[in-house]
Amino acid sequence: DKGNYRHFMEKEIYEQPEVVSHTLAHYLDFANGVAKDFETPFDFGKIDRLAISACGTAYLAGLVGKYWFERHARLPVDIDIASEFRYREMPLSKQSGALFISQSGETADTLASLRYCRQEGLPIGAIVNVRESTIARESDGIFPTLAGPEIGVASTKAFTCQLSVLASLAVKAAAARGEVDAEGEKLLVRQLSEAPKLANQTLKLAGQIEKLARDLSHYKHVLYLGRDTNYPLAMEGALKLKEISYIHAEGYAAGELKHGPIALIDEQMPVIVIAPHDRIFEKTVSNMQEVAARGGKIILITDAKGAKHSTIDTLDTIIVPDVPEIISPIVYSLPIQMLAYYTAVFMGTDVDQPRNLAKSVTVE
Ligand code: M6R
Repeated sequence: DKGNYRHFMEKEIYEQPEVVSHTLAHYLDFANGVAKDFETPFDFGKIDRLAISACGTAYLAGLVGKYWFERHARLPVDIDIASEFRYREMPLSKQSGALFISQSGETADTLASLRYCRQEGLPIGAIVNVRESTIARESDGIFPTLAGPEIGVASTKAFTCQLSVLASLAVKAAAARGEVDAEGEKLLVRQLSEAPKLANQTLKLAGQIEKLARDLSHYKHVLYLGRDTNYPLAMEGALKLKEISYIHAEGYAAGELKHGPIALIDEQMPVIVIAPHDRIFEKTVSNMQEVAARGGKIILITDAKGAKHSTIDTLDTIIVPDVPEIISPIVYSLPIQMLAYYTAVFMGTDVDQPRNLAKSVTVE
């Protein structure tokens, strides 16, 4: 039941503060500022690498996870698109853990990758939204997302819940590997606990984003740029937009701009830059200057400090609340989802059932 919402996708976007909160609370003990003592298929303190595979949006969640595991837990992560992983016969260290991410738990390529790792003798964990799924059944242990059923073909709440699980696992791994002390763990857990509230505040940007979406719906191509965890988010923004509005979109690491995509920039191609005011903000500002110098129109998604320091003319600037670094991917997911959603609504596409797509891809 869609309730008062026009589409399941809209409803699912708005459910995020709540389901992210449930998911985080499943893994983190907020009162004591620690990761809970939940069961894991491998010991995060002992494995020497983590191999992650998934498809589509779930893959992009995994890519954000790589940044978190490597940064906070110093745990090296190999991440692949499952359709590549399953055929590339990657040599796997026996000390690795294998982690699969799938909302449906039925995606054919992800399942095949899981079976490859099983054959190689690796312990297998899966982040799934459907606990009775094939991927859940064939895993040694599951990490559930508590998103509830996701109906819209475009994944929204499953994605932010996957991010919530991955961030929680990164905290657990950081503690298990001695990469954070008790104070450090407490800080990360406290920061994560703020995600639902900040996500809720971010939803209030809907009115501004809806107006912007009207403009965006007139373009044929859109480029998304970001660095660090905003690089996977740039790809997620592009995926969401093309999936439901059928506008051609690409997501790139901002530093790659000079290596090709800059040739495309003109006034016909808006560039959406996802850039909170973080350590590498200035680097992204120089990319924006390069875009502006070529007549490109910039839509900047940032925080108040970023808006103040960017000094670049933008078509629009979306100011997200200030967020601690670890929850930034969760919170910044919302404006990119809303932008895709409202653009598709203006274009009159079938938002929940976009053409040519299925919710669960059970054949390769
Ligand atoms: O059920 P899964 O998470 O395994 O699905 C993976 C992809 O098919 C899925 O995320 C797809 O990319 C979405 N439609 C994106 O919104």
